[in-house]
Amino acid sequence: MPRFYLTTPIYYVNDIPHLGHAYTMVNADAISRWHRLLGDDVLFLTGTDEHGLKVARAAEQNGMTPQEWTDRTSRRFVEAWEQLEMSNDRFIRTTDPRHHSAVAELLSRIHDNGYIHLDSYRGPYCVGCEAYYGPDELVDGCCPVHGVPVDEVEEENYFFALSRFGDRLLEWYETNPNAVMPESKRNEAIGFIRGGLKDISITRTSIDWGVKVPWDPAHVFYVWYDALVNYVTAIGFGSDDSNFAHWWPAVHHLIGKDILRFHCVWWPAMCMAAGIDPPKSIFVHGWLLVGGEKMAKSKLNQVHPAELVSEIGVDALRYHLLRDTPLGPDGDFSYEGMIARYNSDLANNLGNLASRVAAVVAGKCGGIGPAPRRESRLALEAEVACDAAQRAWESFAPHEALEATWKLLRETNAELETSEPWKKEPGAEVNGVLGDALEVLRIVGLLASPAMPSTCTELWRRIGLRASPLDARFPRDAAWGGYPGGLVVERGSPLFPRKQAASSQG
Ligand code: MSP
Repeated sequence: MPRFYLTTPIYYVNDIPHLGHAYTMVNADAISRWHRLLGDDVLFLTGTDEHGLKVARAAEQNGMTPQEWTDRTSRRFVEAWEQLEMSNDRFIRTTDPRHHSAVAELLSRIHDNGYIHLDSYRGPYCVGCEAYYGPDELVDGCCPVHGVPVDEVEEENYFFALSRFGDRLLEWYETNPNAVMPESKRNEAIGFIRGGLKDISITRTSIDWGVKVPWDPAHVFYVWYDALVNYVTAIGFGSDDSNFAHWWPAVHHLIGKDILRFHCVWWPAMCMAAGIDPPKSIFVHGWLLVGGEKMAKSKLNQVHPAELVSEIGVDALRYHLLRDTPLGPDGDFSYEGMIARYNSDLANNLGNLASRVAAVVAGKCGGIGPAPRRESRLALEAEVACDAAQRAWESFAPHEALEATWKLLRETNAELETSEPWKKEPGAEVNGVLGDALEVLRIVGLLASPAMPSTCTELWRRIGLRASPLDARFPRDAAWGGYPGGLVVERGSPLFPRKQAASSQG
């Protein structure tokens, strides 16, 4: 059985979940669900990143200990992901003692292998990024990501000999053309490596909220050095060798573009230094912008998923995020765009087809759904949709997978418009048209289930199927002719009632 291990970044608990985080999560969740449909052995991991100066400061500002603060904020992420119906198999917290042990083990191996030394560091540090910058990387003296003034820090720290990994990293990129995708991001990482790598500071003495350095407990690891290790902690690195060997290195990391350097340069080098394989692939996506800007607490432009869920529902939000912002480039969130997509694709195409078919089945077939025809134009369209959706889901392009699936819905609505079964006498022709439409609804329920698990489960139930699309297998259960006919088709309330285009958010 093929293995599919997918990770998201682990989220800082200085903040609460916003739509930018939800964007990564919904994509990761839908892709994991697709692989479960294929019957793969899937592990989907997410979690929270709980150490570092940023979190320690947030705790202090809120009058709590860091542990109290992280317990409380980490729970907000767990709850947000439950609300969005995430199917993550594990949720890792970096304050978990097992994570501390794994970090100590991995970093000790790097130390024992001779890649860590003591030195002193002086230079700019952005707490927002939890990252050191070279003076030349600042923009008008400010952080290039947050646009705020940076701290000037001077410390005696342990350093990781990143400079010794340039050639090995370039060789890794050369022999693994899909290690970093898309191409533009791969080139960015290669360009950074070619520009020359400097050794990096990996510990700090000025704070104690972190994982203690096992060979020198006056130091804690710099938060990124501890955070990256979560990907192997969660699969038993240093404690459960067979589980670790089962999942590593067949991992796919899904990350945002702001953390490319950590994942595409540092992390593979850390793996090499510790004597484990680098990850199999890293997919770098862009940002979901609001009014052209990245969502950030400091900019007060955050959109919170729960507000949108109460407006349009979980599945509609998931669909919008997947359909309208392809993984790769930046995308702009707009309330109006979300409502327009809801009305066109969900209320009109999917919702309309489902209620129309149920109404005509009630009127012409006594509420019992007929079987599809063995040969029909829609059978060919369904095959095209399945092929295109499969290719798209597998190449991290949910928007294309959904477009292919919705094309099938549009074709089916058009077919009904042409044949107008509601105007005809009951009989073979009407049965054939309705049976085909029911079969399309069944297949769409399967193809769209990674995006909209609850809606698709409900859709299958309404057309009389006992099974859930979440237990189906692709391609086996997507073959034309699976709808048996003779099932009771329910006329329920509209799956997606139309929304007013005017924004209630002003
Ligand atoms: N804790 C680190 C990641 C450590 S992974 C070993 C971190 N956390 S974060 O909470 O700041 O960001 C987590 C992820 O959310 C990043 O991939 C970041 O790109 C993503 N996003 C944050 N805002 C975003 C948008 N507005 N749009 C899309 N993704 C965004 O970095």
